[in-house]
Amino acid sequence: MKPKQLKHPFSFENRQVMINDGVLYVPPYVQDYSDFKMPSWKEIFGNENPVSIEYCSGNGRWIADKAKAYPEINWVAVEIRFDRVRKIWAKKQNLNLDNLFIVCGEGVTVSREYFTEASVQETFVNFPDPWPKERHAKHRIIQEPFVEQMGRILKPEGQVTLVTDDPTYSRQMVEVMRSRFRSLYPEPFYLTDDEDYGESYFRDLWLSKGRNIYFHRFTPVNEVKVDLGITSNLNWKELSLPEGKIVWKLEMGLFKGLKQPLSDQAQFQALSFALEEFERALLQPNKKRTAGIVLFEGSADFSKELTWDLEQEAHFREWLDGASEESDWLKRQFTRDICVDFLEVLGSLLPAEIPLILRLRSEELPSHETALQELNKERFQHFELEGVPRGDERSAVGVLLPAEENRDETVIEQVARVIKELEEKGCAFRVIPENFLTMEWEQLDQLLVAPAGITPQGERKLQGFEAAGGEILWIES
Ligand SMILES: C[S@@+](CC[C@H](N)C(=O)[O-])C[C@H]1O[C@@H](n2cnc3c(N)ncnc32)[C@H](O)[C@@H]1O
Repeated sequence: MKPKQLKHPFSFENRQVMINDGVLYVPPYVQDYSDFKMPSWKEIFGNENPVSIEYCSGNGRWIADKAKAYPEINWVAVEIRFDRVRKIWAKKQNLNLDNLFIVCGEGVTVSREYFTEASVQETFVNFPDPWPKERHAKHRIIQEPFVEQMGRILKPEGQVTLVTDDPTYSRQMVEVMRSRFRSLYPEPFYLTDDEDYGESYFRDLWLSKGRNIYFHRFTPVNEVKVDLGITSNLNWKELSLPEGKIVWKLEMGLFKGLKQPLSDQAQFQALSFALEEFERALLQPNKKRTAGIVLFEGSADFSKELTWDLEQEAHFREWLDGASEESDWLKRQFTRDICVDFLEVLGSLLPAEIPLILRLRSEELPSHETALQELNKERFQHFELEGVPRGDERSAVGVLLPAEENRDETVIEQVARVIKELEEKGCAFRVIPENFLTMEWEQLDQLLVAPAGITPQGERKLQGFEAAGGEILWIES
């Protein structure tokens, strides 16, 4: 069969939703989509095998290969352009792919109107049009309405795989998907290699041009709140657990709801006991389907989280050690450090393999530059942060974050100024704590450094960076 043998079944004036020659046509500007009665997957395929959908199938090479390799799965190709649908159709005919159904229509509209709730095992989008210009970004398929449809049509244990060669689109994918899904890949939430993934026209094209490819995989999650507060009776028998992956949101009253200072032993014991109970009663029986635990949700300005009483004041003075003048900046560092230490101790009571999440409101910090510095990965090594601005981990330009012992307000301001300038110019960059430099310098060409912030070890690392071909740009004081 040749692609041209598939005839378009109607003119634009007579457009309607219909199935013809095994293709579902969903044209745009139809008055009432509910006029068409969509058959069930079972009626379409004649069996109850799991359903996988590929959106933006192009000429259908990837999905035809998959349909051939996995006959026990029912495959659905969704492609907006009829000339490409024809090519998919020809492959289906020539390879006798009874387990491949083709839809000619726009992905989000088709899903919203015709795909039923919790009926799909997996969805894929391979190399969707990137629309690289900012003013065209609204045309990208992976946006909130797409995420909403994925949340609706997927089964609880389903998966979404998104593949692109475009780093900006990759970042957008991660951002919008993480509002309802969890990445199955750890931070930075993509892989650059998946050899057995399958071939498509665009995959081969970008690989031949030496481009990076970003693979993302997500699964729907349900959040379950668990009361672990000091007054909780720790009895969760009534708690109804959803199917699929779970993120536990532990409500321990951290930090505003704690009646005693963080150093209070009895309070700490009560929280530890509550965590042990949670682990025994809820976590262990559901460990396999646990995707993460939210240990804390609140302000990223931890000085707003702690009650500032006399004891706190005394600790702060001790911490200052007479070295500096009191300031909001120092108060934030101090409270952040004691809160993160406290969270680390609590977190260490839970199984190490489960991601611990801190959901932070970073807009409560004075500026974006402050957030990039104060919420750096060095200080939050044991946690996954949500709601926190990230640098661009793919950029070849880095800004060195001075080591903690050399970080004073003047250096921090210099670094903040440079970050602001880079952002105003629209230059991508990442913030690299001095301690992490050796791990990250391979991907770096240039590094902006505030001279006053460098430790002796840092100086040696910088020499190494230069010897490896990197360029240092000194930040003026
Ligand atoms: C860059 S091509 C990739 C094709 C194929 N997946 C591959 O890897 O070779 C993107 C395809 O998505 C289709 N497309 C774009 N927006 C779409 C949408 N909203 N719904 C369905 N298909 C869409 C385009 O017509 C085009 O064929």
